[in-house]
Amino acid sequence: MLEMNETDCWRLGLHLMPPTGWLNDPNGLCQFKGVYHVFFQYTPDNPNGGRKYWGHYISSDLLSWTYEGIALSPEESFERHGVYSGSALIAEGRMNLYYTGNVKLEGNYNYITDGRQGNTVSAFSEDGRTFGGKKLLLTNADYPDHVTCHVRDPKVVTGKSIGIGDDGCYMFLGARTKEDEGQILVYGSTGLERWELKNILRAEEKFGYMWECPDAFLLGDKKILSVSPQGVEPKGIDYQNLYQSGYYELEGSFDGDYRLKNFKEWDRGFDFYAPQSFLDEQGRRILIGWIGMPDDSSQSNPTVEKGWQNALTVPRTVFLKDEKVMQYPVEEMLKLRKKEQTLEPDSISKEMKMYDVEMAISDDSDVIVKISDAVTLHYIKADRRFTLSFDLEKNLGYGRKSRAVYLEEFRSMRMLADTSCLEIYLNGGEEVFTSRFYPEEGKSSFELVKGKAEIKYWELDSFCILPSSGHIL
Ligand code: FRU
Repeated sequence: MLEMNETDCWRLGLHLMPPTGWLNDPNGLCQFKGVYHVFFQYTPDNPNGGRKYWGHYISSDLLSWTYEGIALSPEESFERHGVYSGSALIAEGRMNLYYTGNVKLEGNYNYITDGRQGNTVSAFSEDGRTFGGKKLLLTNADYPDHVTCHVRDPKVVTGKSIGIGDDGCYMFLGARTKEDEGQILVYGSTGLERWELKNILRAEEKFGYMWECPDAFLLGDKKILSVSPQGVEPKGIDYQNLYQSGYYELEGSFDGDYRLKNFKEWDRGFDFYAPQSFLDEQGRRILIGWIGMPDDSSQSNPTVEKGWQNALTVPRTVFLKDEKVMQYPVEEMLKLRKKEQTLEPDSISKEMKMYDVEMAISDDSDVIVKISDAVTLHYIKADRRFTLSFDLEKNLGYGRKSRAVYLEEFRSMRMLADTSCLEIYLNGGEEVFTSRFYPEEGKSSFELVKGKAEIKYWELDSFCILPSSGHIL
C-alpha cells in the first residue's frame, strides 16, 4: 500500500483528491439525511489506475471532508474486474446505489461485441456508512441487440425530476452501438426491482462512438441530458480534448418523442470529464466533474511520482440566467476566504498556494492576465475569443498548449487557484476552464498585464480534511 506523501507541494487544498493512488469519475453524488456524499472511481494502490473501487468522502457543509474508506469493492463474480461508475437515489429513507459491475472476458476483453460484461448492479445503505445488498439488475443479455458490450454508468432518477409525471424511476445507461454510435438507453421501473427499456436517446447526427456517464435533470423549463462522448473529431476551437463532456437540451420527453439540441461543452479547459450532478436538500443542482481524462497517455502527470493522480472539481451550482446554463462554485467556498486584498494597477500579487480572485473588467479593451508568468489568459476583443495558454518552455502545463472559447463580451472572471489546478469562471459562470498545472512549490502569482479591471483577491484556507495516518480500507 502506498503511503500518503505529506511533503508533496501539489497536494490539493480546495479539491478532493485520492488519499493515495488513482481517482477518476465522481459517483453516487447525493445528500442523505443532511450529509453530502461524494463517491469516486478509485484504485488506492496504483497512481496509474487498475481495478476500480468506490472511494467515499462525506461532508456536512461541502467544506470539511472526511475520507470514509472504500464503500464498494469488486468482490462478487459479476463485478470482478471493477466496480465502475454509477449513481445514488435516495428512496424510502435508504441510499440506493447503482453501478456497473465490469467483467473482462478471458482472452478478448477489448473486443467490441462480446468481450466484456457490463452488469448493472444495485446496492444500498441505511446509514450512509455501510453498504450491502448487492443485486444484479441487468446483464448484457437484457440490453437491446443493436448495442455492443459497452453499456455502463447507470444514472437513476425519479420520473418527477425529469418532467415525467408518474411515480416511476428512470435509469440512463451509456452505450456504444454495433454501428459505432454513442447512445443512451433509458430504462424505467416502478418498484426499483424490474427494469424495462423505455427509450433510446441519440443525436440527430451521430456524435461519437460511445457516450459515457449520462445524467438527466430539469433546469427551470429546460430538460438537460449530460453525456461524455468519445470519438468526436475536433471542430474549430471545439472538442479539443481526447474525449468530451457536455449537455444537450432535450425537446419533447425523455420517455417518448424527443429531439436533442445544441450540444455544449461543460468546460473548456484541458482536464474535465465524466461530470455528475445531484439535487441537494436546499434544491440546488450541484455538479462535480473529474479533473482528468481517460486513456490519455500523452499527458504526463508529475504527481504520479508522489503516489497519486487526478482530482474532482469543486462543487458547482448549475443554474439558468437569461436562458443560459451557468456554473459557479457553491457559495460555501466563500467561507474559505481570508482577508480581502486589492491588486493595484501595474502590480503583481505575491506567490500563494490557494487563492480566489474576482476581476471586474471596467472597459471593453483586450485583456491579458498572467499566472506566474507561465499561464496566459487572453481576451481578444476583435475576435471575441478568450484563450488559456501555457508557456511550453516553462512547462507548468506539462506539454499542453492552449484552449479557447468564443465570448461575445468579457465582463468578469473568478479564478480558484489551488496548488496544482485552476478553475476559471467567465462572466459569472457562462464558460469555465478547468486545468491542472504544476507551479514550483505549488505557488503561483497573478498579474493584469493588459486591460482595465478591478481586482480583489483572498488567500484561502484549505478545505480538505484527510485522515492523518495513511489509508483506511
Ligand atoms: C469514464 C469511465 C466510465 C467507467 C469508469 C471506469 O471515465 O470510463 O465509463 O464506468 O470510467 O473507471
